Amino acid sequence: MNIEDYKRAGKIVAETREYAKKLVKIGGSLLEATEMIEQKIIQLGGKPAFPVDMSINNIAAHYSATINDKTIFQDGNLVKVDIGVHINGSIADTAISIDLGNNKDLIKAAETALDEAVKLTKPGTKIFEIGQVIQETIQGFGFSPVRNLSGHGLELYKVHTKPNIPNINNHDDSLLKEDQVIAIEPFATDGAGLIIDGKPSEIYELLNKKPVRSQGSRKILDFIDKEYKSLPFNKRWLLKKFNNMEVTLALNSLEREGILHQYSILPEKNNGIVSQAEHTIIVRDNPIIITNI
Ligand code: CO
Repeated sequence: MNIEDYKRAGKIVAETREYAKKLVKIGGSLLEATEMIEQKIIQLGGKPAFPVDMSINNIAAHYSATINDKTIFQDGNLVKVDIGVHINGSIADTAISIDLGNNKDLIKAAETALDEAVKLTKPGTKIFEIGQVIQETIQGFGFSPVRNLSGHGLELYKVHTKPNIPNINNHDDSLLKEDQVIAIEPFATDGAGLIIDGKPSEIYELLNKKPVRSQGSRKILDFIDKEYKSLPFNKRWLLKKFNNMEVTLALNSLEREGILHQYSILPEKNNGIVSQAEHTIIVRDNPIIITNI
């Protein structure tokens, strides 16, 4: 594990997260804010580990601006900004909730749950203990944790690996291990506490590279493999390099052949408002929160 790369990625993502707070304003464009944040990451010497997500209100996660996105931030919105940065594949993943309305308590619930979970993060902690403290903290605020979304391990060029870090007590009594890199991400809601699969997000990930016959698809697949490896990317990014026709054809056929996986946008089951907070941590006796400034 390259600790210096993790720390650099963490510093860049933390600075970018502070920058994002200034961009999410009533009347502002989601697409513009997203692209400014992605550019900021590059200016600071990092690379986006996935397209910046800005999920509003009842959308819990996996909404990233599309190329012609017309979304404008509205009075009353709760905007979750989820940002990932990598340095040579070492990833820092963080998220905040920005309140353009009246959701202070809901946001406080996710943030406090994250703080409490971080306090327990050390080698030997049982996985369910993290979930339990998140669940109890959020319920203490009168809300529900989103129980089918969870934190995750991080490995080189991989955003979602073991262990699964639950937002409820899932009775997993396996232990956190020294030098594991994990993201803890409580989600709180006034809805059912469940997300369902929504519309396609145009965010993809390379699952298994195999030979493809079409020359157009092969060109785009080679680009994806070289630029993003196993990290998520989206159609908007590809459209900066290739034309719409070739990108659309290639993405459709690569998805159909099982080479790419496309993520779904994740709305809350009862359309409850959802808040989120997230840090990436290196598990040690004195844990290193790399996404703190
Ligand atoms: Co995450």
